[in-house]
Amino acid sequence: MSIIDRDHVQSSQRSHATRTRASSASSGAVFVTIRREGETPLVIYGSYGYTGQLIVEQALSVGWRPVLAGRDAVQLRAQAEPLGLRWEAVALDDADALEELLRHARVVLHCAGPFSRTSRPMADACLATGTHYLDITGEAAVFETLAARDADAKRAGVMLLPGVGFDVVPSDCLAAHVARRLPSATHLALAFAGSGRLSRGTATTMIENADRGGLVRRDGVLTGVPTAWKTRTIDLGRGPMTAVTIPWGDVATAFHSTGIPNIEVYLALPPARIRALRLTRHISWLLRIPAVKRALVARVRRGQPGPSPAQRHRGESVLWAEASEPGGRRAVARLRAPEGYTLTALTAVAIARRVLEGQAPVGFQTPSLAYGPDFILSIRGVAREDLANT
Ligand SMILES: NC(=O)c1ccc[n+]([C@@H]2O[C@H](COP(=O)([O-])OP(=O)(O)OC[C@H]3O[C@@H](n4cnc5c(N)ncnc54)[C@H](OP(=O)(O)O)[C@@H]3O)[C@@H](O)[C@H]2O)c1
Repeated sequence: MSIIDRDHVQSSQRSHATRTRASSASSGAVFVTIRREGETPLVIYGSYGYTGQLIVEQALSVGWRPVLAGRDAVQLRAQAEPLGLRWEAVALDDADALEELLRHARVVLHCAGPFSRTSRPMADACLATGTHYLDITGEAAVFETLAARDADAKRAGVMLLPGVGFDVVPSDCLAAHVARRLPSATHLALAFAGSGRLSRGTATTMIENADRGGLVRRDGVLTGVPTAWKTRTIDLGRGPMTAVTIPWGDVATAFHSTGIPNIEVYLALPPARIRALRLTRHISWLLRIPAVKRALVARVRRGQPGPSPAQRHRGESVLWAEASEPGGRRAVARLRAPEGYTLTALTAVAIARRVLEGQAPVGFQTPSLAYGPDFILSIRGVAREDLANT
């Protein structure tokens, strides 16, 4: 049996099955790909983690049969067998097995974080096998490391697109939207309001990075600043709120998406929480001690895996972006979207769909570079509002 797909040429140049030129048009030539029997177009790695499970559910709901993967055979079997899905237990430090896992895949959706520890071996395997790479990181250092592999990815005919979840799809699309409204912008500020409970994996990743302080983009360069460095009052659609700078992934990605050289990302928090965050500046040395990190992670791991379905259902994300220039002109927009983990499952699967449909521009990508600033509007429950162009 073979399955026939049509891929637009501006997408992937790779071919791990038989691929023949079928036609050419002004909108781009079309390829016909004949997939071999047993080929697995989508592998979800880290599928049994909290967010991995949400993504698997979303993939099943659109009728897909992904291959599930991760390092623990017991958890994989328990997840995959009731669903009748194929699974493969592969450790990330086993390069040969990882390449074997990806050999017949079109795209891997990597959900096993912290990505500062897990991204490199997966990206290596993708480049070796010609598999497109998606992940749900929000870590600035991971974005930059993958951006530095742009030329390698182009040579391999592979798309490297990290950050296909809440961080950074909605904020990246909003950043690109205000940037196109004010092309002369030199400064970009982004903000969002947290939508409640964090997953264990998100909390673990935050602990991993907690000793690094704050991060902004200044004159094009990622620049360390103190934790909770600046505050602003921002109206995210719920009235004016205090917001504080955080080292969010957009300080890396929004520069690639917009070219704006000065970027700050704010999180809306009550003033008492901002004061508490500032106090952590005095204990950053403590957070660098591995035993302290391990104790904090162990405490997190004893908690709930993440928000319950009811909490996710009630939750909502609100985001805000402002592009500005020294003359005082500004473009401002806001976005409302589903709760963060629900949104992550929706955007990750929507992007995987684009890849499987053949839309996978090779090299390092951000969501808005690959699919445009309006991509986020294709997600159920998302609405954007333009506030000012002054
Ligand atoms: N971009 C976003 O908006 C967004 C949204 C949600 C989550 N995230 C990020 O995604 C990651 C996962 O979050 P989560 O809530 O799903 O966490 P989780 O429930 O703790 O799941 C983590 C998963 O990663 C696996 N894993 C961890 N280290 C691994 C390694 N070295 N090798 C192989 N597998 C490994 C775990 O497997 P074991 O059980 O075998 O350890 C588990 O399957 C976190 O980094 C989080 O920050 C980002």
